[in-house]
Amino acid sequence: MPTTFSIKTYGCQMNERDSEALACLLEMNGFQEVQEDEDPDVMIFNTCSVRDQAERKVLGKVGLMKRRKRERPDLVLGIIGCMAQRRGESLLQELPHLDFVAGTDQLQNIPDLVKDCLAKKGQACAIDMGPGVFRELDGHRPGRLVAEVSVMRGCDQFCTYCIVPFCRGREKSRPIGDIVAEARMLAETGTKELLLLGQNITAYGVAEARARGEYTPEFSGFADLLEALQEVPGIQRIRFTSPHVRFMNRRFVEAVSTLPKVCPSFHVPLQSGSDRILKLMHRNYTAAEYLERIQAIRERLPQATFSTDIIVGFCSETEEEFEMTRQVMQTVGYDMAYIFRYSQREGTQAARTLPDDVPEEEKHRRNQILLEELARHVKAANAAAVGTTAQVLVEGPSARNPQRWSGRSLTNKMVLFSPQENLHAGDVADFRIVRATENALYGELCR
Ligand code: 5AD
Ligand code: SF4
Repeated sequence: MPTTFSIKTYGCQMNERDSEALACLLEMNGFQEVQEDEDPDVMIFNTCSVRDQAERKVLGKVGLMKRRKRERPDLVLGIIGCMAQRRGESLLQELPHLDFVAGTDQLQNIPDLVKDCLAKKGQACAIDMGPGVFRELDGHRPGRLVAEVSVMRGCDQFCTYCIVPFCRGREKSRPIGDIVAEARMLAETGTKELLLLGQNITAYGVAEARARGEYTPEFSGFADLLEALQEVPGIQRIRFTSPHVRFMNRRFVEAVSTLPKVCPSFHVPLQSGSDRILKLMHRNYTAAEYLERIQAIRERLPQATFSTDIIVGFCSETEEEFEMTRQVMQTVGYDMAYIFRYSQREGTQAARTLPDDVPEEEKHRRNQILLEELARHVKAANAAAVGTTAQVLVEGPSARNPQRWSGRSLTNKMVLFSPQENLHAGDVADFRIVRATENALYGELCR
């Protein structure tokens, strides 16, 4: 019987992708993936540190495993990902029933760590960050219509609130050739859409270009990458997350608005609409510059939609400054937004130098206001889509109601429709939108 494992993933899409690649690597090493409730021999928790709540959730969950481990002493428990990187050894002391901790640059070494733990070699901690060449694991679960591809790691931006540079290290980009090879392999196994991932994805290739002395403000390694991926046969759509306004230069805007496979929906983190707060956050742009980039894309791609990340209640944010964020939200008209209450993270510049002085109830209130603002806009935008035609990548039976099928439009809206003869998962077809709710559009196949 093969040794079984489960991976529970917290946090962002980068973690989801790492878990997928790790699962493939473990399977190549003879392990077998099972669900968490199937009593695996090895349980791995891939963790997030971005907000305090995310860390507390994992600590609670792994804490509960103590009993399970008492009943089953041969069970191997591991924590990997951002919290593992940030807390290292101290996790092994805090959770004595934990077997191993592996940092964000250690994915390749996890099969060996697991084998050592199974052989009862004692607790292990591996959190070195290799300075060397960035070699990404390229294993994917089979049959993915939409596949995530990691194109860079780390972040050099050092926004003052953000723990990511401390968990994921310096920016490192994969060579274009490796990414194109992975995309080709995916296309050959049925993938139609790529979701490119990077913490600061528009800085793709920047650190390397700087090291070569070739960086200029007109440089966009990311535009080069998109151009190369445009040529991969079988790939029909390309999305990416998350860009930073600082690197959304003219070359980037031209590439995303002219390359046919790049979807016209963009996730562009705003964080705040106040220039004073943006400065305190070390975002390197003003609200006007942000809007100018959105406008530049809209001029070229009038159908483009936008989503964003916003933090409310950052240190010293006043009511007026909060209103400025709301104003930008209204101006852009996002069709999706992640809105976060500021959470102070130990070790960041903000934690060292700025008091976390907006009361929790106030953060909560501001959060609610923006959520309502967003819901209002999404409802109106979806209603306005009725009567238009949407190009849909058909995914198959919808998760909620298998009687219906679902797919995504070019602007990443969920479109629901009745199953049709001759229409299969992976097909791209036009649908006329006949009805809309806040969450989805309902379509009829155009003949
Ligand atoms: N508190 C709240 N939100 C945060 N984010 C990052 N760090 C923090 C923090 N300390 C949010 C940002 C980022 C998203 C991934 O998480 O909006 O874009
Ligand atoms: Fe964090 Fe800023 Fe880097 Fe995004 S760009 S990962 S918010 S430091």
